[in-house]
Amino acid sequence: MTQDSSLFVVTIDGPSGAGKGTVAQRLASKLGFHLLDSGAVYRAAALHALENSADLSNEGAVLASVRAVQPRFLQDDGQIQVFIGDKDVTVELRSERTADAASRIAAMPSVREALLQLQREFAQPPGLVADGRDMGTVVFPQAQLKVFLTASASERARRRHKQLKEKGTDAKLEGLMREIEARDLRDSTRKSAPLAAAEDALVIDSTSVSIDLVTEKLLQEIADRRNIAVP
Ligand code: DC
Repeated sequence: MTQDSSLFVVTIDGPSGAGKGTVAQRLASKLGFHLLDSGAVYRAAALHALENSADLSNEGAVLASVRAVQPRFLQDDGQIQVFIGDKDVTVELRSERTADAASRIAAMPSVREALLQLQREFAQPPGLVADGRDMGTVVFPQAQLKVFLTASASERARRRHKQLKEKGTDAKLEGLMREIEARDLRDSTRKSAPLAAAEDALVIDSTSVSIDLVTEKLLQEIADRRNIAVP
């Protein structure tokens, strides 16, 4: 895959709950870059499959459904709204049901292949911040900055618990921890594009470092690599 050299691509991979989404949003809005939330691409494909009652254990059936879906992503100051047809599915994409289906279809090689082109189209000037699991290893292997952002499972469960509580949902911390561990295991042991840091990735553990500090560090790193002042 070749990539336009006037484009600056930043990839942020890592397990769910490590803060990738927040860091990616902040970087994109500070830099005026496009934003790809690749998890939302998998979630939109999964939601479409669920709505069509596709059998999620049948890769051929899921692939046919994925090929038929054309989600649209509208970006506004770091926030992304997702549409399938005319329907705004932004909120529905966040449900645990959709997340679970996304994790299942993401393990299917033909589905990953079918979603590659859609993801690569986000790479437009002046640059892109892409977050996911295989952004630096598979989708944008020529990215100028690759980051692998991680945090301990207990810290990620604690953050998710706090987030849900703020939304008025009272989930049990222990249950969240088990779900996170199960999803991590599925994402990192699948045969196709398992969750892993690219060899040339900058690995950052955010367990005891604030997201503000991680964002600042990355803005500095990007400015150094672009040879410009920090925005
Ligand atoms: O980051 P997220 O929770 O929105 O991702 C939803 C699911 O999609 C998750 O199980 C991992 C999977 N995914 C993936 O396999 N590759 C990506 N680049 C992004 C997400």
